Amino acid sequence: MSENTLDALLHESRRFDPPSELARAANAQPGLYDEAAADRIAFWETQADWLRWESRWQTALEWEVPFAKWFVGGRLNACVNAVDRHVEAGFGAKVAYHWIGDGERDTRTITYGELQRLVCQAANGLTELGVRAGDRVAIYMPMIPETVVTILACARIGAPHNVVFCGFSADALRGRILDADARVVVTTDGQFRRGAPTPVKPAVDEAVADCPNVRHVLVVRRTGDIAVAGAEQGQAVPWQDGRDRWWHDVVEGQPETHVAEAFDAEHPLFMMYTSGTTARPKGILHTTGGYLTQVAFTHRMVFDLKPDTDVYWCAADIGWITGHSYIVYGPLCNGATSVMYEGTPHPDDKDRWWKLVEKHKVSILYTAPTTIRTLMKWGHELLEPYDLSSLRVLGSVGEPINPEAWMWYRTYVGGERAPVVDTWWQTETGAIMISPLPGVTSTKPGAAMQPLPGICADVVDNDGKPVPDGGGGYLVLTEPWPSMLRGIWGDDERYRETYWSRFDGVYFAGDGAKKDEDGDLWLLGRVDDVMNISGHRISTTEVEHALVSHPKVAEAAVVGAADATTGQAIVAFVTVKGDIAAAIGDNAAAGEALIQELRNHVATQIGPIAKPRQILLSPELPKTRSGKIMRR
Ligand code: PRX
Repeated sequence: MSENTLDALLHESRRFDPPSELARAANAQPGLYDEAAADRIAFWETQADWLRWESRWQTALEWEVPFAKWFVGGRLNACVNAVDRHVEAGFGAKVAYHWIGDGERDTRTITYGELQRLVCQAANGLTELGVRAGDRVAIYMPMIPETVVTILACARIGAPHNVVFCGFSADALRGRILDADARVVVTTDGQFRRGAPTPVKPAVDEAVADCPNVRHVLVVRRTGDIAVAGAEQGQAVPWQDGRDRWWHDVVEGQPETHVAEAFDAEHPLFMMYTSGTTARPKGILHTTGGYLTQVAFTHRMVFDLKPDTDVYWCAADIGWITGHSYIVYGPLCNGATSVMYEGTPHPDDKDRWWKLVEKHKVSILYTAPTTIRTLMKWGHELLEPYDLSSLRVLGSVGEPINPEAWMWYRTYVGGERAPVVDTWWQTETGAIMISPLPGVTSTKPGAAMQPLPGICADVVDNDGKPVPDGGGGYLVLTEPWPSMLRGIWGDDERYRETYWSRFDGVYFAGDGAKKDEDGDLWLLGRVDDVMNISGHRISTTEVEHALVSHPKVAEAAVVGAADATTGQAIVAFVTVKGDIAAAIGDNAAAGEALIQELRNHVATQIGPIAKPRQILLSPELPKTRSGKIMRR
């Protein structure tokens, strides 16, 4: 974001007070800030009391920079908190998910009671496959109910899950399986994308061919014969007997009950890989008690969730942290009814979202600015035929939201009534950190406003000194928080180096931020070599490595360029090897063919989301005197 846009943002004078009716009945009242300020640790203990603990903690926080332990000595089961206790409280018939398949070809309504039975069967099935507490399970699946079931079953038996976004390539999947040393991979035969079946399992086969510790691949039948006919040229799903097992053989016949064991509050719940400034993704580790405390708290307060009446829809993918915290753990711990949609907005089907909102009377919608901008581009006229009056809170996440998109969201989706909450957080923070409270905060279009009660953030200059109101700098988190990452899987040194070495004793988020004249926070994007493409973090180095791994490439430099829809887009400057350059010469068609080849190569190496929007072939790249490529 340029300084000019910044100035414009800071002169943004529009304010939107919370609707009085919402404010009166809101879960979060203004006193929440005072309560947290008076005694932050006691405040978090009160929030932890919302969970069911099999035994209570002795110490709320042990903090030795940079390692935190929350609710030390407490024991609980994440799955019992998400599912069983609601059933025991008499909500077995309550809907947990209205699941809508891609293109609405199929739908499924899953109650808390059914979810409990499915999860128990899956827990028994995984146990039969030899999975024990502490074993890592990789999950490479589309947005189907079995994905939620698998996540919860892992949590139930204390096996940390490692969900890998289903759009990642076999190479990316392999790296994550190996780094986590996963023993079992759960996947599907195929998936539906915009109505068309595409294979999934072949990527797993390719990945696990080099993963000797993977004992089993558990496969949900999703596309069945359709994918076989459509995508595999008549071949059956490739199968390795012994290793590969069908979900319907292993899971579906299992008993529908399972006795859940309580685990330590600091037992690893999951790891989620995310891009950093090097080519190697980091396994961000989250544990149980603190994570659940903060995801449940933020989900109740930021979205003002009323579990008896709200229908909540988080339109993220389960393969990212937003899906983990706000499709699975947060809403389930609060006993919410959610919409879960397998599809994504598509030009052939521009009003699908509004149909779904109307049909299910969605009252809380949580999505990313890139999606809002896409829907905005298609025009607000598309919304007019639909009754969207059920919507009462709108959330945004993943990247800075520009004031135009914010205003459009509020005006056309929210009917000038529903507050917009712009929520800042990261894979590492586990849960929302900076956000308006819908019944308390007077919002400003494009500002994340203030740290939530119990969270301490600041903006500092190069020397780590807090900037005054009106100043800009680096966002830091100055006190530990319950859902913070506990480290990078297997790499304490990298954990210290990445987050705790830039400024002494405080967490460096990697984001630029500005405090306005009122002290409210505006997030400005990454300050390191990480790009934000449609709300997904991709490192410049990762894409450069992918390009240089192509035999025709000599050197590559990758930068994030502004993009009206995706926020940033990937632009690569590539120098090809001498003989290749000579062969191409002035032949524009040959140059174009090579560019397409390289774009596709990046897609195979990382995944289609990392495909550069633009590749410029350049005879030379600018270098510093020490020979480093100058990206700027
Ligand atoms: O740069 C910030 C941006 O997304 C990064 C975190 O990405 P990830 O770990 O993939 O998690 C995304 C979903 C939580 C941050 O460092 N970001 C996230 N939310 C916002 C944001 N930037 C500005 N405003 C936000 N609301």
